[in-house]
Amino acid sequence: MINDFHPTITATNTAVEKTEADALVLGVAKGPQGPILLPNPLADTAAESVADSLEALGATGAADQMLRLPGVEGFATQILVLIGVGPLTGEVTGGVSLEALRRAAGSAVRQLGGLDSVALALPSASVEEVGAVAEGAAFGAYSFTRYRSSEEARSKTPVAMVSVLTELKDRHTSGAISRAVVVGSAVRATRDLVNTPPSDLYPESFANTVSTLADRSKAPTAGGGTTRAGKLKVKVWTEKELEKEGFGGLLGVGQGSARPPRLVRIEHSPSKPVAHIALVGKGITFDSGGLSLKPATSMTTMKLDMGGAATVATVVRAAADLNLPVKVTGWLCLAENMPSATAQRPEDVITIYGGKTVEVLNTDAEGRLVMADGIVAAGEEQPDAIIDIATLTGAQMVALGSRTSGVMGQDALRDTIFAAAEAAGESLWPMPIPEEARSGFDSDVADLTNLGDRFGGMLNAAAFLREFVADREGAQKDSLDPEGARIPWAHLDIAGPSFNEKGPYGYTPKAGTGVMVRTLVSYLETLGH
Ligand code: BES
Ligand code: MN
Ligand code: ZN
Repeated sequence: MINDFHPTITATNTAVEKTEADALVLGVAKGPQGPILLPNPLADTAAESVADSLEALGATGAADQMLRLPGVEGFATQILVLIGVGPLTGEVTGGVSLEALRRAAGSAVRQLGGLDSVALALPSASVEEVGAVAEGAAFGAYSFTRYRSSEEARSKTPVAMVSVLTELKDRHTSGAISRAVVVGSAVRATRDLVNTPPSDLYPESFANTVSTLADRSKAPTAGGGTTRAGKLKVKVWTEKELEKEGFGGLLGVGQGSARPPRLVRIEHSPSKPVAHIALVGKGITFDSGGLSLKPATSMTTMKLDMGGAATVATVVRAAADLNLPVKVTGWLCLAENMPSATAQRPEDVITIYGGKTVEVLNTDAEGRLVMADGIVAAGEEQPDAIIDIATLTGAQMVALGSRTSGVMGQDALRDTIFAAAEAAGESLWPMPIPEEARSGFDSDVADLTNLGDRFGGMLNAAAFLREFVADREGAQKDSLDPEGARIPWAHLDIAGPSFNEKGPYGYTPKAGTGVMVRTLVSYLETLGH
């Protein structure tokens, strides 16, 4: 289910003439007066001749525009490639943001799929720039061809060797390169899991895949060696165990399926952790809506509904691969939401792990039910913070569109995660949980219903989840700040951004995207510093 393909990424400071690769990639930005050739290692005369012909070649510098030119004499690369970087922003040195570099590198590597090796001569004067170019390449070197029957389609492999040209010495760049390799591998694994069809990815097989992911002693590194020092521990709850312990959310949602639910706990536990963060992910391996059946057209793409759980699994592994000094526990809430004679009915009352009852008014609002179980379980360990991530609501797309995720929760944690996303170059936006949201879930018979107000659906779903966040041990119940008693908690809704239904762009392919892996890794990294 997870592809073993990993591009080899290296930083090279050998002379550009001696760089052996199928293609040498240069960046072109969109300047106020036309295209601008970005700083590159070509000799002055060669650089000038390329720069002078940009307009005649039709190069505009627009993001994703790629032109292939014949190689230049005296160079070991077969072709020269110009990749558009987009408009100069003026906010950063040289006018090109790190995210623009990431996207340009990723776009070139993605579009050059089929070639064996690519040398990237994009602005790489700082360690941060080298890291961004390497990351972009690691995200762009991706394809999902496992389910093609023809040899031809299966052989269209992504670029296998990427060298990032820079004047910096190896000892300065090696950290940034290995980090890019780890994060790239996490992003690609997340996409693989999301793209795997529900015929092959269901709760049991997902749990098995996570165990393999954790077992694998070989973590990908730039040089191909192994780095993971900390061991990952995995625990899987079977259906019987879920019943014994009372995980009514997972059981209720999963009871209509022939393939029973699972709960997975994956742990990265360094020797002297500076903090303990719990991550909880929604893992609905297919969301038909259940008896509150979705219309046919809304049901396609619903294999994406385990994107949160996939992200949690790969981020915990990345934390281990990066040897982060933070204890991270991942909770994957896995179930398949199907209609059948054994499915839960609208108006059933279920008991979430820990005892709260929920009247199920719409079986298509299933994510919050399995997440409630996971959030309660995570809270029992009294982590320093709980972050949950879920393809939770269609309302996310109404509010923020298909590329911007939403973050809600305790103010301080929400804002920290928002800042982590900005640092990582991902599009995330803080949203409120209105005070009136909770009362929309009042039930005539149970503690809560699972269906809130129609308007503000993303925000209301967050208010529902918040009900299941445990209080901090010893916290004063009569605290003036009603949020003060709870474990700091934040909720990420990635419904739209987890899956790109349109054409590929930058380093983002069609289908599974792997969004928020970088943001969560960046957040965990800030705790270690
Ligand atoms: N998995 C969906 C949310 C979703 C929709 C993700 C579209 C990605 C794309 C979720 O389980 C769902 O069905 N939500 C309902 C909730 C409603 C019944 C309160 C929705 O958003 O319509
Ligand atoms: Mn649903
Ligand atoms: Zn769902």
